[in-house]
Amino acid sequence: MKRIATVSAALVVLSAVAIAAVSPAPAEPRLVLTPRSGPEPRINGARVFGVRPGSPFLFTIPATGERPMTFGVENLPEGLMLDTATGRITGSLPGPGVYTVTFTAANARGTASRPFKIVCGPVLALTPHMGWNSWYVWENRVSDAIMRAAADAMVSSGLIDHGYQYVNIDDCWSVRPDAADPGRRGEPRDARGLINSNSYFPDMKDMTGYIHARGLKAGIYTSPGPRTCAGYTAAAGHEELDVRRFVEWGFDFLKYDWCSYGDQADETVLDDLQKPYRLISGILAAQPRDIVLNICQYGLGNVWEWGRGVGGNSWRTAGDLGHDVVGNLFRDGFDVYTRNELHRYGGPGGWNDPDYLLIGILSSAFVTDREGSNEASPLSPNEQYTHVSLWSLVAAPLIFSGDITRLDDFTLGLLANDDIIEVDQDPLGRPGRRVAKDGALEVWMRELEDGSKAVGLFNRGPALASVTAKWSDLGLDGPQRVRDLWRSKDLGVFDGSFEAYVARHGVVMIRLRPLNGR
Ligand code: GLA
Repeated sequence: MKRIATVSAALVVLSAVAIAAVSPAPAEPRLVLTPRSGPEPRINGARVFGVRPGSPFLFTIPATGERPMTFGVENLPEGLMLDTATGRITGSLPGPGVYTVTFTAANARGTASRPFKIVCGPVLALTPHMGWNSWYVWENRVSDAIMRAAADAMVSSGLIDHGYQYVNIDDCWSVRPDAADPGRRGEPRDARGLINSNSYFPDMKDMTGYIHARGLKAGIYTSPGPRTCAGYTAAAGHEELDVRRFVEWGFDFLKYDWCSYGDQADETVLDDLQKPYRLISGILAAQPRDIVLNICQYGLGNVWEWGRGVGGNSWRTAGDLGHDVVGNLFRDGFDVYTRNELHRYGGPGGWNDPDYLLIGILSSAFVTDREGSNEASPLSPNEQYTHVSLWSLVAAPLIFSGDITRLDDFTLGLLANDDIIEVDQDPLGRPGRRVAKDGALEVWMRELEDGSKAVGLFNRGPALASVTAKWSDLGLDGPQRVRDLWRSKDLGVFDGSFEAYVARHGVVMIRLRPLNGR
């Protein structure tokens, strides 16, 4: 039965996250809040997808539930085909148009259906990217085998069923003439000037084929300067050739860094900052393949103000989260965002990117400063909930950069909560913002397409605290149905405010729907 709670009676103790709170750095239980997916079919992930006319189309309908499953799409436009056993849609659309289709997924337990919009036009990345990137776990040890294993793990872990799509190589796939590892040395380019991959990537085309064959997409990385950040061969002077090579190789995503370009640019001059991105996006736009462009220059020149204008589908808003993950989570994630009012800039086609999800098992270099091994993320369990919650509230790309082949239930729960993903992937694409602050306690709110609101109650302080989300701060009036998103559980009806105990560095994420609304 629904209940109306008055302001004072609306105290909800969400004990699982809360209990762990004692200062300063308690050992916290790794509580899995996300319920396991049920056997019945459920369609997840984005509700809208952008593709350019004539480009190869690949979208896998993300659905959880017992297999075998049979997929269907009502009103699929001509030019596209569905593989009913895997849910993969391929083909191409000849011209611009907006197609509203209905996905269905059926198994022995029942049938699920959900509307979906295919928007054929110039704009890609209508929702934030979801995927995996090699950097924070593999750095300069990345290889073809690791990328294939990552694609396999994205399927076997079920992350693909929640909407994860991209399997992205970061730095260190090209040649570094002075690399310590001889396997990464060699000729940077061939006689025609085409960039070479190093010996750990013997056949890029075969590798992307392997990734695509699993219904996933492949990403690559380079820099506009002569060298990448890790000193590997990059694009300077070969931009056109390199993009054409990425197209031949079958890549779908390009992260374009900044390192070493800084030597030839004046970082205080806007035109210098924009030039390499204008150049590369112009080349990308002329290709017969959709390649999403991720700009990575750490926020220089307020990139959020012009990242979309120079063709970026996302732009890093600050430096690397990885060097001091805990500090940067709060500084870059919360404070850089708020100070620069970044909610004004992200939206369909162009997203603020506060860097990857640094949860699970990472390279030890980012945890203990020792190179060469792997260790658990330095974020406490509550900080990890805070990390993923904030990213979904600000419509950030959800790109996991820990070890995808070693996901425990806790990390999987963080990555695969469909209520949280739904907030991140909301088709309105309006990033959330902080609406209230009381010392270390912050309330963040994101407006969603259906008129509901996602709200994060954050406690950045050193001990358990009660946080209140007031309707007046959220622009709400009247009773609201409240759902606890991490637990995927309806909590009842509240009026005036919602209050919860929140652990040290933790969060409670809720969604509010007007009692008499949709
Ligand atoms: C920069 C980027 C990182 C990563 C490294 C690779 O530091 O910000 O995300 O790509 O380069 O060298």
